Amino acid sequence: MITQESIDALKAQLDVVDVVGSYVELRKAGANFKAPCPFHDEKTASFVVSPAKQIYHCFGCGAGGDSIKFTMEYEKLNYPEAIEKLADTYNFTLSYTDKKNNKPRSQVMDKVNEYYQNLLTSRIEATKYLSERGIYESSVEKFGIGYAPDSQSTMNYITSHMFTLKEAVDMGVVGYEGDRYYSRFIERITFPIHSANGALVGFGGRTISGHQAKYVNSPETPFFNKSRLLYAYHHAKQTLHKTKEIIITEGYLDVIMLHQAGFNNAVATLGTALTPEHLPLLRKGEPRVIMAYDGDKAGRAAALKASKLLSAGGFSGGVVIFEGGLDPADMVKDGRVDELAGMFRSPKPFIEFVLDEIISLYDLKDPKAKEACMQDAIGYLKTLSPILQEEYKSYLASRLSISPSFVRIAGQTNTSQTNTPVMQTSSHRDMWELSLIKTLLEKPHMLTQVLDVLDPSILQFHQNEFSLLISNQTNHPNIMAISVDDSIKAIQSEDELQNELNTFLSKHYNRELKKINMRQDIEFEQKAFEIRKLRGIIAKLK
Ligand code: UTP
Ligand code: MN
Repeated sequence: MITQESIDALKAQLDVVDVVGSYVELRKAGANFKAPCPFHDEKTASFVVSPAKQIYHCFGCGAGGDSIKFTMEYEKLNYPEAIEKLADTYNFTLSYTDKKNNKPRSQVMDKVNEYYQNLLTSRIEATKYLSERGIYESSVEKFGIGYAPDSQSTMNYITSHMFTLKEAVDMGVVGYEGDRYYSRFIERITFPIHSANGALVGFGGRTISGHQAKYVNSPETPFFNKSRLLYAYHHAKQTLHKTKEIIITEGYLDVIMLHQAGFNNAVATLGTALTPEHLPLLRKGEPRVIMAYDGDKAGRAAALKASKLLSAGGFSGGVVIFEGGLDPADMVKDGRVDELAGMFRSPKPFIEFVLDEIISLYDLKDPKAKEACMQDAIGYLKTLSPILQEEYKSYLASRLSISPSFVRIAGQTNTSQTNTPVMQTSSHRDMWELSLIKTLLEKPHMLTQVLDVLDPSILQFHQNEFSLLISNQTNHPNIMAISVDDSIKAIQSEDELQNELNTFLSKHYNRELKKINMRQDIEFEQKAFEIRKLRGIIAKLK
């Protein structure tokens, strides 16, 4: 029998996009991939693969599961056969309980990392560079900084330590092209990159001799996914659980210098934008998120994109922009640590940042441009919860110097115009409503059951997300955020769903009943009629 450990290790290395993509032609659609479903006959693409959730799902026929399930269904294999097929495809050595075939994942990357680290001490130009950048020896040690020599030396080292170049290729340390092996990191300072658990998964390498690319990173492998990893997260995680705050920067050097200055909760993206796939990791410990980005055009654009994603995902926190060509690393080097601490203490909240950035894109002296600006800003506000929309309408209005009544958000129910007063509350994450949405994401066939009894407009907090769901906009960041958030649990069975709906509806109608009772503006008879009607509905729900 295959050991559970090796099944788990294999699963951790599989990427559903890769697995499904090797059979089906996938098209990128937002954060997901789409294709016509391979399990039923169709022309439209209802088949969705989510890299963030590592699952596939067909909204047409309901087929769905993970990489293993897909392989079983597509290849018509049983569970162990599918595992073996995948292990074979991805060059993964399974272990069996009879111990006949027990070989763990190649240690070649760890070994090469040791080599690079040892080599650094003898490379004067590299150590000189690091000390000129202000990096202490203790940081070199903590972050395992090393030096990769010429290509041939790395490969000699690998083969002389009983590893094959083939396994070094699989681990992303060596490349192979046109019948030729070559080291991926040549004459570069190396920054080992770890998973959240602290396993070495790749490298970033910085040139100090002016190679055309300033940095190169490991290639995508089953365990190195740039869109999901954050540099130094394994170092930062303890602190961020304590301080409930994480600082995201743009560069390896920024992280190292921030840690050196005592900001042990700093991490960085790996030369890519923040993606929805980062969100599950970011949610751990529920920290406030501080994006520390350059003030140049690229930095501002990246901060804007990240702020939209994070605010739509319900994260709190904000943005700190570094002006004047400085970055956090420079500031630490210049001894401006107090100033940095001050900046991190007062970031500009995400929503304000996004609105301000949008506004800065338009010339508000031109009425037409102002109008377009408002539409743009409203488009963004729609991704937020109704309460936040309401809150920031007035902010937007004041920034545009117009009356708040001009800021109209279509699709937002304006409860003050119906006969019920608005129920205001500060929390915008309602776990029950979120759970309902997640249930329907995972089990779309339950939608009719829900719509039979529940009018979506009675949802108090997540109407927006619900309408996105119904209109099948599963790539929308709000929906992605729900689908990847493990703290939101889906309802399991139809019976359970019915009970949950009854409880929710009964609470809702009881609230309505109370409100009706307090109304002074309607006739006695009409009131009595409404009350009877509501009591009738409530009785049926019991
Ligand atoms: P920057 O160009 O802002 O560099 O890239 P930096 O971090 O300030 O680097 P130093 O201070 O000059 O050493 C920010 C990040 O973008 C990625 C790297 O992850 C880098 O840390 N990057 C940059 C690349 O992946 N490739 C490149 O060629 C450049
Ligand atoms: Mn820099």
